[in-house]
Amino acid sequence: MTNFDYYSPTRFVFGKDTEAKTGELVKKAGARKTLIVFGSGSAEKSGLLQRMRTSLQDAGIRSIDFGGIRPNPKSGPVYKGIEICKKENIDFVLAVGGGSVIDSAKAIAMGAVDDGDFWDFHAHTRMPQKALPIGVVLTIPAAGSEGSGNSVITQDKTLLKRSATGECLRPRFSILNPELTYTLPNYQTACGIADMMSHIFERYFTNEPGVDLTDRMCEGVLKTIISAAPQAIAKPDNYEARATLMWAGTIAHINLLGLGRIEDWSSHAFEHELSALYDVTHGAGLAIVFPAWLRYQLHHHNPQKIAQFATRVFDIPTSGSAENIGEKGIAALSAFWTSLGLPFKLKQIKGFEEADIPLMTQKIKMTRPNELGNYNPLNYTDIETVYRSML
Ligand code: NZQ
Ligand code: ZN
Repeated sequence: MTNFDYYSPTRFVFGKDTEAKTGELVKKAGARKTLIVFGSGSAEKSGLLQRMRTSLQDAGIRSIDFGGIRPNPKSGPVYKGIEICKKENIDFVLAVGGGSVIDSAKAIAMGAVDDGDFWDFHAHTRMPQKALPIGVVLTIPAAGSEGSGNSVITQDKTLLKRSATGECLRPRFSILNPELTYTLPNYQTACGIADMMSHIFERYFTNEPGVDLTDRMCEGVLKTIISAAPQAIAKPDNYEARATLMWAGTIAHINLLGLGRIEDWSSHAFEHELSALYDVTHGAGLAIVFPAWLRYQLHHHNPQKIAQFATRVFDIPTSGSAENIGEKGIAALSAFWTSLGLPFKLKQIKGFEEADIPLMTQKIKMTRPNELGNYNPLNYTDIETVYRSML
């Protein structure tokens, strides 16, 4: 187990009707004027947004709406949000939505207290040191941004999708009411499930010895997600299934499961090129990438770890070679994701062109000039091979 220093200061307020506490929590953070960041319609339609405005008003906090954030959020709206914050003396940013809204809110919060270009933080030429305080009312369990110190944005002109990381990006509070997720289309629920499971996989596949505790924690959360997922899909207002998924999505990415481990994250790099280029939903992209990455690793590095995943998470019998058991586990994972309506081949992505594979490989290499990932680091040729295995 590696050394670690774990600090996760977000207050999580979980359960029915908890969004009613928003105004009170923003006030507690010392705010007077809030920018409410939201998406393209769902929060307005459900009435959540109006309840947020009222909650802030009741707490004596002024607010300005900033809506229209799209999935796979772009840099353009971030610049606009920063401008509004500076002009209006905003002192708190409230994100009402999912990962795209939260990540845009985080980028706006960083840019609002900075004189330079916020993109420097995503391009990793500067590290974020400060940001306006951020609060979250989560409406989709998926990205885990409600507890993470990350903001993932795509730069308009280059279509580079990159993550900025900093402690100042961790939300002061995140409100998690599972009832707010009842309106999610099944496809979005499924994409969220693939994303949260992938956040666990990125941590699970490590070479670090002595990580039995976190191995078992990862396996337990994965098994729980696999059991709750079909229940939420079959009955979108199943509170317990929605509650399980919502907390699992946070647990998956708050880094408890990665403590003491060297994490991989190459599958996310593969996926970010897909969602940057074709605007595919992040979780759907991961449903294509992860089985392909696992299969490549099965034949190149430590098949025993993949066999362990197969037996412990998908109850594959332990007879046969590690490769054979691992292969059955990967097939079970793909079958589970496709049963939720997720894709499994690149050709299922609208607009995908095989000719784009060298471009995506090149874009990965731009920010990772040496090797990709830590489990079994991949060079340029390996990356291209893994992409081609998704065809
Ligand atoms: O825009 P609206 O109308 O709100 O619709 C959204 C959007 O179309 C809809 N939605 C959300 N809550 C809903 C709802 N529809 C009905 N009822 C509700 N309750 O869902 C769609 C997807 O929303 P989005 O915010 O894009 O989803 P998600 O949470 O999956 O976020 C994905 C983004 O997060 C990034 C991804 O790359 C992607 O850009 N990630 C961020 C991470 C982080 N900050 O730590 C880590 C992740 O690995 C990931 O990369
Ligand atoms: Zn993800």
